[in-house]
Amino acid sequence: MASIAARSASKAFRQVAKSAARPAQTASYSLLARAATRAPASRALAAAVAPAFQTRGVKTLDFAGTKETVYERADWPLAKLQDYFKNDTLALIGYGSQGHGQGLNARDNGLNVIVGVRKDGESWRQAMEDGWVPGETLFPIEEAINRGTIIMNLLSDAAQSQTWPTIAPLITKGKTLYFSHGFSVVYKEDTHVEVPKDVDVILVAPKGSGRTVRSLFKEGRGINSSIAVWQDVTGKAKEKAIAIGVGIGSGYMYETTFEKEVYSDLYGERGVLMGAIQGLFLAQYQVLRKNGHTPSEAFNETVEEATQSLYPLIGAKGMDYMYNACSTTARRGALDWAPIFEKANLPIFEQLYQSVRDGTETRKSLEYNGRSTYREDLNRELAEINDQEIWRAGKVVRSLRPDYKPESE
Ligand SMILES: NC(=O)c1ccc[n+]([C@@H]2O[C@H](COP(=O)([O-])OP(=O)(O)OC[C@H]3O[C@@H](n4cnc5c(N)ncnc54)[C@H](OP(=O)(O)O)[C@@H]3O)[C@@H](O)[C@H]2O)c1
Repeated sequence: MASIAARSASKAFRQVAKSAARPAQTASYSLLARAATRAPASRALAAAVAPAFQTRGVKTLDFAGTKETVYERADWPLAKLQDYFKNDTLALIGYGSQGHGQGLNARDNGLNVIVGVRKDGESWRQAMEDGWVPGETLFPIEEAINRGTIIMNLLSDAAQSQTWPTIAPLITKGKTLYFSHGFSVVYKEDTHVEVPKDVDVILVAPKGSGRTVRSLFKEGRGINSSIAVWQDVTGKAKEKAIAIGVGIGSGYMYETTFEKEVYSDLYGERGVLMGAIQGLFLAQYQVLRKNGHTPSEAFNETVEEATQSLYPLIGAKGMDYMYNACSTTARRGALDWAPIFEKANLPIFEQLYQSVRDGTETRKSLEYNGRSTYREDLNRELAEINDQEIWRAGKVVRSLRPDYKPESE
């Protein structure tokens, strides 16, 4: 058994070493990590191989005229990371999207991780499926907090508020309290999450779903994360945040504050990331339909061309690149209409930011997500979107894509 593990470890290291020889490519941290955790002997190997990846480090970058510090994984070779946390137990409370991604990555990185969730709930079942063992690495919430030194509160934001009266007394001096969102702490008047005064309180917020946190790690890449410190009683809070950021699978970490993280996050998802984009798609589609265009034409001109052709170009090289890739006719019209949309939308975005800042959005979210009928209410609203003509037309358009797979609908 051990020799199989050792063989697979050394095979993984050979792959890693090979990729390390290519200077422009990011080395596969997850391969290294998995190898390191499979066989004890390979930990020494990890230490030997890891310095090869320290080709970059903390850097100050000029973001369009503003200098910002970016932290990166290259400063934390696996051996250093494992040594840093050798006396710690990371107690991951909650096993939803983030719990799954962050927990498995930290475990694969060779850190001592346990999971705390409601006994026999959906997350308990899911955690067992992922190899967490009841009584060894999987515990009811209170027990996991008692056993942990770093308490990673990854319950849903509404649940963090609901469970706080039970959890708070267990977070005793010497432990570290960790969040992946500034929500509970910043809006404490509404959430009633008043953190203990004698513990470090830190944040690592991956900029993506927990599934992406996991898939990027498995590919040997890392997700971008924000890091922040709310309370530093040991003088080590920031260093700890960066180290845990690496442990849970971040590639690059951008420094922020709890307030800025939560304001920008709530604003962005209500805006262009989700709310505004659905609103704009619908408005454009409706006008086309009112003027006699067919559903397929309206969908193609609104969603399909955007998601399949143009937005990936923005992602690859920016807006000017996408404009340049389009016809002169399209370009002229877009250049003329962009400022009109900007002017029309600016007041809405200002109203939205204000609504985030003054806690209106938080209170709505806590009320809605705290209802016992939350899941049914959500499903009903999502079913309404699914039933909108634009998205029903979309299903048919998607079925005509060359790479279409019926089971994905
Ligand atoms: N999802 C994202 O894309 C994302 C990205 C960045 C940051 N974040 C932040 O990461 C944190 C976790 O988010 P998430 O999306 O992973 O959460 P989630 O999927 O909504 O997490 C749900 C977890 O909370 C537990 N839970 C819910 N109600 C509970 C209650 N009343 N008592 C005890 N446990 C309860 C669930 O357990 P059961 O299965 O037992 O119900 C489950 O383990 C949040 O602060 C979120 O804002 C999320």
